[in-house]
Amino acid sequence: MAGPMEVDVVHARLDDFPDLARFHAVLTDDERSRAAAYKVREPGKVFVLARGCLRLELGRRLGMDARDIRFDVRPSGKPDVRREDASAPDWRFSVSHTGPLVVIAFALGADVGIDIERLDRDVRPLVIAERYFTPREREALRSTPDEGRATAFLAGWTRKEAIVKARGLTMAESLDTLSVDVDPAGTEPAHEDDPRAPARAACRLTAFLLPDSNLIGAAALCGDVPPRLRFRVLSGGRFD
Ligand SMILES: CC(C)(COP(=O)(O)OP(=O)(O)OC[C@H]1O[C@@H](n2cnc3c(N)ncnc32)[C@H](O)[C@@H]1OP(=O)(O)O)[C@@H](O)C(=O)NCCC(=O)NCCS
Repeated sequence: MAGPMEVDVVHARLDDFPDLARFHAVLTDDERSRAAAYKVREPGKVFVLARGCLRLELGRRLGMDARDIRFDVRPSGKPDVRREDASAPDWRFSVSHTGPLVVIAFALGADVGIDIERLDRDVRPLVIAERYFTPREREALRSTPDEGRATAFLAGWTRKEAIVKARGLTMAESLDTLSVDVDPAGTEPAHEDDPRAPARAACRLTAFLLPDSNLIGAAALCGDVPPRLRFRVLSGGRFD
């Protein structure tokens, strides 16, 4: 079996970037309007940080001015780099934010999805799972000891979202037809699509726990090799 594929993950926290001018400067007018339209200030700033980082990172990888990168958005909402030059490297990406935290995964030539949640998020696992998890996932959560159940729920949730985002689907169409392993200890958790669901792209998962950042998450890669995640933390207000 082929080995894992490198996936770069850029990780940034809003508090480390009091000055967002560098990121704001590379946004399009539409993106600036979107940032300004947030009714609450923090999510608007997180969007500027995430979209600015995304553009600067892609600019570097594609040898382009960050402002010139264009995105096509699939009907599900998944954005892709518009490839105007077929000889340019085929970088794919996925963005996730939670509170002040942003992660962006980059993979070459394979669709990628990433999702994070805060470990201290106040969730009622069994109540939410009743509505959003498959019977198999609910059973796994029920048999998890009380003290570990919230983390197991967040593990399951982020794994499902990572797969959905890699495939460019929506959660709504995948919730009851995709089951994931919810054991937070697994680093390459299994998942299974309901055989009655429409055929979907094969995916492999890598899960992660970053207790220092208070984060749990997962990345999925379309294809038959798992992603090997290489984290790079942006800090000190610098992007380099
Ligand atoms: C994208 C989706 C899969 C997850 O979004 P989310 O967890 O709310 O938000 P995240 O921060 O992790 O991801 C947002 C990013 O994903 C990307 N995105 C949006 N739709 C996407 C899709 N269908 N596939 C892949 N990526 C997508 C965008 O880049 C977006 O970033 P942006 O807002 O800066 O443009 C969303 O479409 C969805 O279905 N959310 C689930 C909502 C829900 O059902 N809630 C139930 C209650 S618990």
